[in-house]
Amino acid sequence: MKFFVDTADVEELRSLVETGFVDGVTTNPTLIARSGRDFEATIAEICSFVAGPVSAEVTALDLDGMLAEGRHLAKIAPNVTIKVPLTVDGLKACRSLTQEGTSVNVTLCFSAAQALLAAKAGATFISPFIGRLDDVGETGRNLIQEIVEIYRNYPEFETQILAASIRHPLHVVEMARMGADVATIPPKILRQLYDHPLTDKGIEMFLSDWKKTGQKILSK
Ligand code: E4P
Repeated sequence: MKFFVDTADVEELRSLVETGFVDGVTTNPTLIARSGRDFEATIAEICSFVAGPVSAEVTALDLDGMLAEGRHLAKIAPNVTIKVPLTVDGLKACRSLTQEGTSVNVTLCFSAAQALLAAKAGATFISPFIGRLDDVGETGRNLIQEIVEIYRNYPEFETQILAASIRHPLHVVEMARMGADVATIPPKILRQLYDHPLTDKGIEMFLSDWKKTGQKILSK
């Protein structure tokens, strides 16, 4: 399972890349706004130190606009993935950009039918938003389950399932259990994956007992 980081915070990303767990990055207009930085400069900087796919989202809603923006953003770096919304024009843009050799992430997916269309349009990634479904009283994990099942039936589909809108570590575990190809994880949640209170308690106990021995590993 690949881990992407869902952020446009370049400094945060640099420190996470050092852990060796970052396989790619996703951004969206909200994350760019939160960073307070220039969109294209931010994507270029991220691509300079992240080797995997870096998603940059178009904001046009019509086909010609999405294609123009997508082609423009794709020139920033070879690992830019163009993010388009799951609409009729978004899927047309997905098909064209894919045929041109550009990687495409179809975003804002909330149903299995939408995921089926994205695979048929040749998307590189489909992004089902599980947290936002949970927020409205639906079960995001069920959507992933359905998409995994559907894609498994059709080996010709090459679209990777990129679980998005991850809200807590359990979401990541559930996605891994169901076989999602990628989870895009907010920095805070990626850091939480390390945590367990019994790990901290265990370290504390071992160190206190070790002190009693009076020994040092590098003393000889
Ligand atoms: C995915 O690519 C999106 O940027 C993201 O996961 C959205 O998450 P949110 O629902 O927390 O905004």
